[in-house]
Amino acid sequence: MHRRPVPLSKAYRLLNHGPTVMVTSAHAGRRNVMSAAWNMPLDFSPPKVAVVIDKSTYSRQLIEASGVFGLNVPCRALAQAAHDAGQVSGRDLPAEADKFQRLGLQTWQEDGQDGLGLPMIEGCVAWLACRVLPEPRNEQVYDLFLAEVVGAWADERVFADGHWLYGPETDPALRTLHYVAGGHFLTIGEPLSVDLGD
Ligand SMILES: Cc1cc2nc3c(=O)[nH]c(=O)nc-3n(C[C@H](O)[C@H](O)[C@H](O)COP(=O)(O)O)c2cc1C
Repeated sequence: MHRRPVPLSKAYRLLNHGPTVMVTSAHAGRRNVMSAAWNMPLDFSPPKVAVVIDKSTYSRQLIEASGVFGLNVPCRALAQAAHDAGQVSGRDLPAEADKFQRLGLQTWQEDGQDGLGLPMIEGCVAWLACRVLPEPRNEQVYDLFLAEVVGAWADERVFADGHWLYGPETDPALRTLHYVAGGHFLTIGEPLSVDLGD
């Protein structure tokens, strides 16, 4: 088990490099997952995020009902699932054979001290538990949801002490995914640091 808590002050770094995420949700005994390329960090402290959740999605229904969602950062090993979660709707699937089951996704339950009771996807490299900050106009007009991050975790093999550890020696299977379109992703590349000056 490589999952470690990330201080909330560093949670924005889990999304700052623009990975595609898998949004998890749960309400009244139902749970679901969808892909979301349109996401971003929004603030440092308390950390906030923005994500587009289309009106047509079943995820939107569960998130509007529960007021919470999880952002799971998948890696290359989960590329097919990260794509397929965005191709089918969980709306018509029975609870006992939901999208997680259909895609072969194992989950851990985010139910710590201040847990929101969200399913989180095993094998991802970072996770953010988020509580919706209601902004009805943004949600209705732009499908844009803002949320506060109340819990954050990362895989210690690729994120530690507030930094992604990606380098030439990183296991390719652990590299984050960045969606382009049409089933085409890029995986995260090599580090490049510039002079910070004095
Ligand atoms: C890689 C990828 C990225 C996507 N990004 C978004 C997104 O940012 N926002 C959105 O509303 N839908 C996005 N979609 C589409 C949803 O994931 C798709 O509608 C999904 O089937 C909804 O599932 P649900 O009805 O089970 O919630 C994306 C799809 C793919 C394949």
